[in-house]
Amino acid sequence: MSSLKTADEFLQDFVFEPSDGLPETATNESIQSKGDAPTIGAVVSTDAQTTEPKGYKARKPRWWKALSGKATKGQRRSIAAMKDYKLERPAYGDTIDWDAVFHGTSQGDVWLELGFGGGDNLLALAEKHLNTNFVGADISQVGLGKIFTRMHHSVQRKRFWSGYSECTSEAHTTSSNDVAKLQDDRSDESFRQVEVTDPYANLRVYSGDGVKLLPYLPTASVSTILVTFPDPFEGEHQKEYRLIQEHTLQELYRVLKSNGRLFLATDHEGYHSYSHSVIDAMNNKSSDGMFRPVVPCPDRMEWLPVLSRYERKGWDEGRRTNLSCWQMIADTTERSKAIRQIAYALIPVAVSIGACALWMGMRGR
Ligand SMILES: C[S@@+](CC[C@H](N)C(=O)[O-])C[C@H]1O[C@@H](n2cnc3c(N)ncnc32)[C@H](O)[C@@H]1O
Repeated sequence: MSSLKTADEFLQDFVFEPSDGLPETATNESIQSKGDAPTIGAVVSTDAQTTEPKGYKARKPRWWKALSGKATKGQRRSIAAMKDYKLERPAYGDTIDWDAVFHGTSQGDVWLELGFGGGDNLLALAEKHLNTNFVGADISQVGLGKIFTRMHHSVQRKRFWSGYSECTSEAHTTSSNDVAKLQDDRSDESFRQVEVTDPYANLRVYSGDGVKLLPYLPTASVSTILVTFPDPFEGEHQKEYRLIQEHTLQELYRVLKSNGRLFLATDHEGYHSYSHSVIDAMNNKSSDGMFRPVVPCPDRMEWLPVLSRYERKGWDEGRRTNLSCWQMIADTTERSKAIRQIAYALIPVAVSIGACALWMGMRGR
């Protein structure tokens, strides 16, 4: 009999993911001895709320490691130079304080992108909405290298990086090859000629598993969550690592502000219907529902103004992009609590008016 492992046996051979806040050189044993505890606490407040999302696997299979890749030497230089733009996971038990992260400008909304890839969309949005704060999370060191190289050059030149393909209605009708050509014509060094002191002051990047970051985010503090072209993880043993699943959605629901929105773009029909069915099932379980579908989906220019290489690849292979949006339905217990509070606050006013009316009535007699 062959001693070679089958693909399934191989997938069951688990390791810890290297890019998740742990040094790449750490051995499995040294990681295990740390109990996979979260690392560096940069910006913290004390309202602790930090356990891994229930049901989420801290240990990851080997193929997960391959997703992380390795940044080039030049990218690693940019990663080091841009460390101030890195969002660190705080110490265990602490919660991220957006005000501290964005140096007191967190009155702006916070948008979160899970799995930003090369960061084209995140960079385009951050440039477009200067008064909004953006946070991107990705496990890929290559992605981290790309986004930080672009940010590094932008900061040096005090200009916005603009090497992405914008999604115009023209681009929609153009064949993907033409769009690719358009992209090739621009060098990776193209910058918009707008001088700004700190082009990406409103952007922070988290290197690691976005799902594991969620418990460290304050409740009701994020206004928009983007999941664009998530890895479909099609294998039977891979599905449980998908970004969209019930325990992740529970966390997304917690961190979203009332009426906050969750956007999904995917060209994988299976992932599209899977995501809708997971959300529908969650809605059915809760008395008032958790995520209301927003139909039609808001204009993609608002949240997905670029054409990523993943989307273009999908077009080339004959797939179409499915765009979805859901709005978080505020917890009714919270809502009724708020109504009760207003009612209680009005009681003294009502009593005073009643007493006045009585007193005036008695004087009139
Ligand atoms: C197919 S790529 C799409 C990237 C990007 N959104 C785009 O459209 O170009 C999916 C990305 O999600 C990242 N990813 C997958 N699971 C993740 C997780 N749990 N946390 C953070 N990033 C994740 C991968 O590293 C990869 O960069």
